[in-house]
Amino acid sequence: MQWADPARLAALLLACLLPAAAPAQSLRGALEWLPPGSLNLPELTSRPAENLAGGRQQSFYVEYGRLAFRSPDVLGGNARKAGLSCQACHPNGDANRHFFIPRLSDRPGHVDVSHSLWSARAEDGRANPLLIPSLRGVGAKPRLGHDRRMTTLREFTRNVIVLEFDGNEPDALLLDALVAYQQVLRPTQAPDKRLTLQTDLDDFNRALGVLRLPLAEENVALSGRVATMLRGQIGFMHERFEAPPPRQILEAWSQDLRAIAEQAEAGHWPAARAALNRLGQAASNPPRALLDAAPGSLYEPARLQAWLNKPVR
Ligand code: HEC
Repeated sequence: MQWADPARLAALLLACLLPAAAPAQSLRGALEWLPPGSLNLPELTSRPAENLAGGRQQSFYVEYGRLAFRSPDVLGGNARKAGLSCQACHPNGDANRHFFIPRLSDRPGHVDVSHSLWSARAEDGRANPLLIPSLRGVGAKPRLGHDRRMTTLREFTRNVIVLEFDGNEPDALLLDALVAYQQVLRPTQAPDKRLTLQTDLDDFNRALGVLRLPLAEENVALSGRVATMLRGQIGFMHERFEAPPPRQILEAWSQDLRAIAEQAEAGHWPAARAALNRLGQAASNPPRALLDAAPGSLYEPARLQAWLNKPVR
């Protein structure tokens, strides 16, 4: 039987390790699903600062919204396959001034959001790239969008997900959370920050906290959803490494999250909560093999530039 073939089995197992559409601004997803020239160094090596009203003490809604904002699986179609999330165009709630997709952009920071690349149904037959706006202070705006047609963040956000990017209908909690996150985004004068393995690890550790609530409430569906989003965040780190040791560490964390979701499904709540605690400890004290691999990885701008310059892969 062909499934018994060990090589095939190994390939299958590997394919199960990480969710298919892992990577906010994904390197490998974009290569596969966006036209050549859709990635550039500045957007992949730095991020605007994030200033949230209330600082680091945020509600579950804001934290879940923050994670969902960074999760491609909230969107659908090619955006999701390419690893794009809200964060790709609105990094840390600001505007990506470097965003450029050949044919969909006429200049950096602009993109056509009514294009068949995103959704065949939303195609309006016109080339009409729009400036990607910053979302800092968006909660205080009386009207939204270039045509100022919509009045609520909730309506606008649903429209972005379902109509523009062909995503599934978001449930009420997901919408509440995305709105709650956008409502606390505030202006800041702080300069852009270098994107490093450490900043990604800090974000991942912060996002792990989101899983505590559904595990405490013993909510199977939400535990699974959050675990999938977290595995996507691991994917963003994973794709920047080529050497096996750091990749294996990240794959093990991803497997831990899958096991937690399975324990939740089986009703083994104390075991799931204990596993999350262990993962939290491991991720906040990452093995040296991971940290030491950062300089040789695609977190390093010079290496990333060389990788982007390779003509064919
Ligand atoms: C491919 C890039 C892209 C992605 C992905 C994206 N947006 Fe946008 N966003 C835009 C552009 C372009 C506009 C301007 C549209 C307009 O003016 O009608 C915009 C406008 C907005 C606005 C209106 C802001 C204002 O001041 O009027 C909100 C709110 C918003 N986006 C939220 C989101 C959320 C939430 C997500 C994820 C669910 C998301 N966006 C994903 C490009 C993007």
